[in-house]
Amino acid sequence: MSQRYLITSALPYINGVKHIGNLIGSMLPADVYARYLRQEGHEVLFICGTDEHGAPAELAAQDANEPVAEYCQKMFEVQKKCYEGFCISFDYFGRTSAPSNHKLSADIFDSLYERGFIEEKCISQYYSPVDGRFLPDRYVEGTCPHCGFEKARGDQCDGCGRLLDPEELIRPYSVLSKSYDIFLKQTQHYFLNLPKLEDSITEWVDTQNGWSDIVRGVAQKWIKDGLQARCITRDLNWGIELPEKYQKGDTRKVFYVWFDAPNGYISITQDWAAGERAKWERWWKPEKFDDVFYVQFMAKDNLPFHTVFWPAMLIGAGMDVKKPDDIKGMSWLTYEKGKFSTSQKRGVFLDEALSFFPADYWRYYLLANCPEANDSDFTFESFAATVNKDLIGVLGNFVNRTFTVFRKSFNSEIPHMVEDKELQEKCERVLCEISELLASRKFRQATQKLRALWVLGNEYITEKTPWVAQPSSGPAIAQCLNLMRVFAIASAPFIPQVAQRIAALLNISWEEICEAPIAGCFSNAMLAEGSVLPHDTDTVLFNKIEDDVVDALTQQYSGNNAAQ
Ligand code: MF3
Ligand code: ZN
Repeated sequence: MSQRYLITSALPYINGVKHIGNLIGSMLPADVYARYLRQEGHEVLFICGTDEHGAPAELAAQDANEPVAEYCQKMFEVQKKCYEGFCISFDYFGRTSAPSNHKLSADIFDSLYERGFIEEKCISQYYSPVDGRFLPDRYVEGTCPHCGFEKARGDQCDGCGRLLDPEELIRPYSVLSKSYDIFLKQTQHYFLNLPKLEDSITEWVDTQNGWSDIVRGVAQKWIKDGLQARCITRDLNWGIELPEKYQKGDTRKVFYVWFDAPNGYISITQDWAAGERAKWERWWKPEKFDDVFYVQFMAKDNLPFHTVFWPAMLIGAGMDVKKPDDIKGMSWLTYEKGKFSTSQKRGVFLDEALSFFPADYWRYYLLANCPEANDSDFTFESFAATVNKDLIGVLGNFVNRTFTVFRKSFNSEIPHMVEDKELQEKCERVLCEISELLASRKFRQATQKLRALWVLGNEYITEKTPWVAQPSSGPAIAQCLNLMRVFAIASAPFIPQVAQRIAALLNISWEEICEAPIAGCFSNAMLAEGSVLPHDTDTVLFNKIEDDVVDALTQQYSGNNAAQ
C-alpha cells in the first residue's frame, strides 16, 4: 500500500505581498514535490495559508490605514491570488485567524496549563508614554548587542539572525512613534516552560532519522544554547485571545504569534475537511503514524520554531499528532547580492512578477537556482540568460524544430516509429535520476537533470537532420514527438503551464500527463501512428528576453526609486 503524503509550506505572514525569494524559500519547492508525488499516483494533501497575527500584521494595517481585520481579509485574497498565478497547487489555502485555530490554540494552551507546562510571571516590558501602550517585541527596535546591526527588532536581529529579547537591545526606541522615551514596566504574562520539556524534546530531536544534518544541527544548537521559558502571550489588540479564565490585569492578552501560527497547519486542515473529524484526523492522527509521510517546507530562519518550539508545545500538551518526517529548510535567495526589501521596493514581488513574464519562466529560473545547500543570487541578467539559454535555446528550440518539420513535411500526421534503444536508454537513465532527485527533495539538481533530458532531444534531432528528405526522417520525427511527450511528463512538476501546452500540441490530455510517473515514461510514451495533430496551434513556447528589458527592469527594481 502506498503511503500518503502530507505537505505543508510555512504560512506566509499576512503583511504584504511576498517576493520571489519567499516563493522559492518554501512554497515553490513544496509545490514541485506535491505535483511530483501526485503524478506518481500517491495521495497528497498540500496545506498552506496566511499567518495573520502578531505585531507585523497590526503594524502593516496601521500603515495601510485600515482596521486590521479588513486588512487581513484583503491581503489574504491578494496573496491567495498570487500563489494561484504561480500555479502553486495547494489543496487548501486557509488562514490562522479562522475560528478553528482560535479553538485549537486555546485547547492546546489549556492542556499545557493543566499538565503543568505553563508558568505565570510578571515581566518588565517596554512601555511608551507617547504611544500610551506596552510595546511588544516587534514594536521595539535598537542596536543588536551581538553584531551591532542598528535596526535589530525586539524579537530577532536581521543582521545576524539571532533571536533576541527587547531588553537586550542597545538604545531601544518605539517603532510606532520612534520615541526613545520608553521604559520597562511590570506586566503579567504566561510562559511555556521549555526547560521542563527539555528531556522529551531532546529525545524527540535525537530520534528524527529523516532530517538532514543541518536541520538536526539547528535544533540541537537551540537546545544546547539553553532552553528558557518563553513568553507566549502578548499585549496586543489583534490576535487569538486567551480563554477568559486566564485573562488577568487590565490589558487583554492574546497569544504570541508563534504560539498560534504552527497550530494553523492543523486548523487549516480542519477547515479543508470542513470540520469532518475523520477526514482531517486521517492526516494528523492516522491509525499508524507511518501511514502518513509528512514533509514541512520553510525558510531556514523558521527552523527553530518547527524543530523545537512547536514540537515542544505539542508534546507538552500531550497532543499525539503526526510530526514531520522531514523538514526542508531553504537558504536565502538574495537580490542583486543584497536583501529583498519591501519598503525600499528592492526585489521582485509576486503581484508584479507575472506582469513581466509568465509563471513558468520564474518557476524554472528559481528552481534551477534553488537556494538549497547555499544561498543563491537573483539578477535580471542571470534570469534572462537562463530563460534564453535553457527554455528557449534547449526546450523551445527542440519543440520548434520538431514541429516545423512535422507540419511541413508530414502534414501533421504522425509517421511510423522505429525503436531506438540507445535513445531510450539514455532518456530512461535521466528520467530515473529526475525522479529520484525529486523523491529526495533535491530541486536544484532535479532541474539540472531536466535540462539534461531536453538536451538529449536537441542532440537527437541535430544528429538525425529530419528536415533533409531521407527515409529516416519519418521515424526520427516520430521519435521527436514521443520525446516531446516525455518532456511534458518530466517537466510537469516544474513548469506545469508549459507542459500543458506541449501536451496540447500533441493532442494529449493534461490528465494523462498528470497521471504518468516520470521514471519509465519513455517506454510508455507511444503516440498513435497515422493520427493527425492540430495544425494551427502556436509552437512558440517562449519569447526571448531582450537586453533592453533586462536593463529597464534592473533599473526599476534596484531600490533606488523608493521615493516616488
Ligand atoms: N509567518 C512565518 C514566516 O513567514 C512562518 C510561519 S510558519 C508557521 O516566516 F508554522 F508558524 F505557520
Ligand atoms: Zn545581530
